[in-house]
Amino acid sequence: MKSLEIHTVESSRVSQTDFDNLEFGRVFSDHMFEMEYRDGEWQNPKIIPYGPISFTPALNVFHYGQAVFEGMKAYFVDEETIHLFRPRDHHNRLNFSCRRICIPETGYDQFIQALETLLRLDARWVPEKKGRSLYVRPVIFASEEYLAAKASRFYRFYIITSPVGAYYSEGFNPVSLTTSGKYVRAVRGGTGEVKTAGNYAASFLPAQKAQEEGFTQVLWLDAVEGRYVEEVGTMNIFFKIDDKLVTPKLSGSVLNGITRRSVIELANHEGIPIEERRISIDEVMEAGREDRLEEVFGSGTAAVISPVDRIHHEGEVIDIGQGTIGPIAKKMFDTITGIQYGELDDPFGWTHPVKVKSPEESLS
Ligand code: COI
Repeated sequence: MKSLEIHTVESSRVSQTDFDNLEFGRVFSDHMFEMEYRDGEWQNPKIIPYGPISFTPALNVFHYGQAVFEGMKAYFVDEETIHLFRPRDHHNRLNFSCRRICIPETGYDQFIQALETLLRLDARWVPEKKGRSLYVRPVIFASEEYLAAKASRFYRFYIITSPVGAYYSEGFNPVSLTTSGKYVRAVRGGTGEVKTAGNYAASFLPAQKAQEEGFTQVLWLDAVEGRYVEEVGTMNIFFKIDDKLVTPKLSGSVLNGITRRSVIELANHEGIPIEERRISIDEVMEAGREDRLEEVFGSGTAAVISPVDRIHHEGEVIDIGQGTIGPIAKKMFDTITGIQYGELDDPFGWTHPVKVKSPEESLS
């Protein structure tokens, strides 16, 4: 592991930050991690003040989108402890994405050292109130100035952090979904199961159309038959039908969500019957018509657990739970967030505690 250089800010911006009005991903903490790949190895890991980076428009990533990222969160537990949620799983997924997009993998020791150092320096940016957290965004992109459409020889790895509240303006209130119509998100063998920039760019037009029609997000169906439910694009999806939780199985085009995995592990632990299998939109709509669709909720790092109260598909709308939050969604939300904030025991070993010095010793 290369040694980490640290350059701190002269004065923190934290006191100018309005923690009561946090729009997701708008405000960034004082420091960021930077590392570069050249001559066949990752090198020069640094913590530096958050700020602009300078490149020419010829950068490979701007043209061909060779970029991967992660979304993870850090939670305030007490004045001396911050919890990172499942950092090893996030790092494994980052490397999985790297392999698919032809980006060199990074080592876990360097990753966790960077995260712990960032969190210690920017401990005061971790919001204290429940419902808020510090969103951690690692991103790796091709940084060669070269227009040939091939994998770059150079890369940059950044980790930036951002204090956030709820992802959706609805908060922990139900959101509504509409199926994807003529658009598809991903096909098996493509890049749907990795966290790469292009997946999100391709989803913006359908997401805009969904919002114009009054829905929060798109419910993506499989690209081959347009029949099987896949995911929501910013979260995975769960249905409670006839007393059983069902979530689409990982088909090669669905993102392997870390919160999805947490919900499945928790359901198994609590004895809640759960199935990972193909589920068609017809099965969902029929269960909705027959009042057997008891709950629907999404799961994701940014969204945590997000109840769904309306699904639109081909002109038909089903309402779920009359705008209320279902008991399983609530149980999942309360337990996962309870573990994240250190209020509940963590029998799964999901949390990675980071000990910070007293707030006075971190930057003010
Ligand atoms: C996350 O849940 O962390 C994501 O990366 C989804 C998003 C694009 C905000």
